[in-house]
Amino acid sequence: MSDRQLGAMMVADDSYAGSATYQRLEAKIREIFGHEYFLPAHQGRAAENIISQTLVKPGQLVPMNYHFTTTKAHITLNGGTVEEIYGDVALETTSEHPFKGDLDTAKLEAMIAKHGADKIAFVRLEAGTNLIGGQPISLANMHAVRKVCDQHGLILVFDASLLADNLWFIKTREEAYRNASIRDITLEISSLFDIVYFSARKIGCARGGGITTKSEDLYKRMRGLVPLYEGFLTYGGMSVREMEALTVGLDETMDEDMISQGPIFIDYMVRELDARGVPVITPPGGLGCHVNALKFLDHVPQSQYPAGALASAVYIAGGIRGMERGTLSEQRNPDGSEPMASMELVRLALPRRVFTLSQVKYAIDRITWLHENRSIVGGLEWVEEPEILRFFFGRLRPTGDWQERLVAKFKADFGDSL
Ligand SMILES: Cc1ncc(COP(=O)(O)O)c(C=O)c1O
Repeated sequence: MSDRQLGAMMVADDSYAGSATYQRLEAKIREIFGHEYFLPAHQGRAAENIISQTLVKPGQLVPMNYHFTTTKAHITLNGGTVEEIYGDVALETTSEHPFKGDLDTAKLEAMIAKHGADKIAFVRLEAGTNLIGGQPISLANMHAVRKVCDQHGLILVFDASLLADNLWFIKTREEAYRNASIRDITLEISSLFDIVYFSARKIGCARGGGITTKSEDLYKRMRGLVPLYEGFLTYGGMSVREMEALTVGLDETMDEDMISQGPIFIDYMVRELDARGVPVITPPGGLGCHVNALKFLDHVPQSQYPAGALASAVYIAGGIRGMERGTLSEQRNPDGSEPMASMELVRLALPRRVFTLSQVKYAIDRITWLHENRSIVGGLEWVEEPEILRFFFGRLRPTGDWQERLVAKFKADFGDSL
């Protein structure tokens, strides 16, 4: 958080009804997104619960550029099925395509023709595609998707959690918006969506979430679920201090110098690792530097979770906590079979304002050493596998003694000097 955010927390108004804190947040949301209506929620996934319960009927489909774990869980819980209709470039691990997060509108048209618009609950676009390397969507693609939705009367929903980085990429990679302000780009984006929702942790550097809409009808359909699951409409499960921090955080997200820090650090880390032969997702995206575990550990079968194994190995080699974004982050099919993820990634998140360049250089150094010693690293197997969102609480063990051998090699190379 910034000093301005921390300062704002001190002037919070905890009135249950008529809270001035809420009014400040609502006014900021209107100013930034241009939508008339706002519903607060305690996290991004709480917003997903409300949207899915309101819009998804059993048997319906939800097409999207790519899923996020909690989004998919809520849609399936309500009897819907997620259909990812990304372009062919989305899964190319090395590429120079500036917008690998774009949805393929031809596939969307084909889906509508095959199933009929009634079978589609809503279309979802996720800014900065979390699970395929933080790759952005272009504003041109958002316009194209809106056009298809208009032709078929479909509701278009935007997951704006990772919008900050995506705004930066629109500004720097999309010629038509090079001279547009971040505020104008944001307003143009939200004008294309019926619903925008977000995790405040990412977009606003505060804890919370929310849903905005320009439709009174959708607002009224979702509103009743806020007091049921979140809290009264003036806080939605968020503390008023966090709401003050979020109001300032959203404002700071409109600052180019602020939102550029993450992508610039990520760009540096990706290019340095790439130059050292470490397989990373290119072009550099948002959110973090994504290491391609399928290639890094090409001797570990996907059924032994190479991205999970690599995340453990990175922790052993450097005390660096990355996140598995691969098969472990998937959920099993209803028949118990296990879908293999399209990508096995280790995400080394670089949130703005958190790391210094020397920390990034340290991580590059340790990951390079690990890459040179990658043949030691083996796979993982389950000890305890929960049914829902298994990557949160599941426990795994290494297949064999590779972790001990990795530590021994580390000590042989560096002694006790580190
Ligand atoms: C794209 C995206 N959507 C939704 C969520 C869920 O948000 P939260 O963690 O606030 O529940 C996240 C969280 O990482 C996310 O990255």
